[in-house]
Amino acid sequence: MVESMGRHVLSVRDLAVEFGGDRGTLRALDGVSLDLHAGRVLGVVGESGCGKSVTARAILGILDRAGKVTGGQVLLDPGTSSQQDLVALDPNSQTMRGVRGGRIGLIFQEPMTALSVHYTVGNQIVEAIRAHRELSKADARNRAIELLGEVGIPRPESRVDAYPFQLSGGLRQRVGIAMALAADPQILIADEPTTALDVTTQAQVLALLRRLQRDKGIALMLITHDMGVIAQMADDVAVMYLGRIAEFSPVRDLFARPRHPYTRALLRSVPSIRAEPRDRLATIGGTVPHPGARPSGCAFHPRCPEVIAGRCDQSAPRPVPPLEAGAACFLNEGAA
Ligand SMILES: Nc1ncnc2c1ncn2[C@@H]1O[C@H](COP(=O)(O)OP(=O)(O)OP(=O)(O)O)[C@@H](O)[C@H]1O
Ligand SMILES: [Mg+2]
Repeated sequence: MVESMGRHVLSVRDLAVEFGGDRGTLRALDGVSLDLHAGRVLGVVGESGCGKSVTARAILGILDRAGKVTGGQVLLDPGTSSQQDLVALDPNSQTMRGVRGGRIGLIFQEPMTALSVHYTVGNQIVEAIRAHRELSKADARNRAIELLGEVGIPRPESRVDAYPFQLSGGLRQRVGIAMALAADPQILIADEPTTALDVTTQAQVLALLRRLQRDKGIALMLITHDMGVIAQMADDVAVMYLGRIAEFSPVRDLFARPRHPYTRALLRSVPSIRAEPRDRLATIGGTVPHPGARPSGCAFHPRCPEVIAGRCDQSAPRPVPPLEAGAACFLNEGAA
């Protein structure tokens, strides 16, 4: 058990997601287990296509129509008398609508996903507040101004009447964060929230998220493909590969002694601060296979520099047990 965990607020257990298509079904998630704790940041990292966004969307019941949860559970308030399995709920039900945006706030990569071009930011935050709280329009407007101030927007009492297109990308993402916080959620899921921003703005928005998350004791699931963001933000880290958890570790262990060869490869691909901008990054050889063509045994074996012939291609390593640090790799089995 990882030390000094906060209250357990969400448990994903053995989650499986499949997408149906003309050429049969494709398993995008295959037994993912994750835990979110109050006041902690879970970083979820991995290359493109490994299932980070599908995990977030499955938790929130907003998979594309072709996608279906085919196994596992998403437990809200696990182990309490109000425990609920979100997978068992109709994604369009009243309860699920209350959970989305109410209990669990969502921050997108592109803030315009959550914002409309037709309404002022104030009106949109007021709507988001009143969807989940019984407040008068005037009170909700005051709360919206307060929220804009909390996310560091200068002159919130005038910016509340601005339209999104009148704001810079950085300010728009701050508005996106204010929207996500409208109903005081205890859980936030942020899917690449700063990828669309320039480096300076990215650092500012991440610092803001970290501060808000700490001050409010929020459990944050932060999705990124950037190990630098993980280092800055995460308490715990889940490394994903091809729809599974390759490694789960507290952040310090992950950088000090990465257990999975995939994690080691990801760490080697981080650009050094001192590297010349034009230096080629060390990248991981090959590409992530398509989930429809999952390699036998350990899915990483064709790209793994430490592959054990006759073993890694033959059988799959044990999944990382929930709440335990570890790696799904034969090199780690038997080693405590
Ligand atoms: N709407 C969809 N229809 C079919 N397959 C999908 C759909 N959405 C995702 N997938 C499949 O699920 C897998 C995981 O996708 P996902 O979007 O979760 O990746 P990701 O880790 O978020 O990648 P990125 O870093 O590029 O955002 C991909 O291989 C993709 O082919
Ligand atoms: Mg994604």
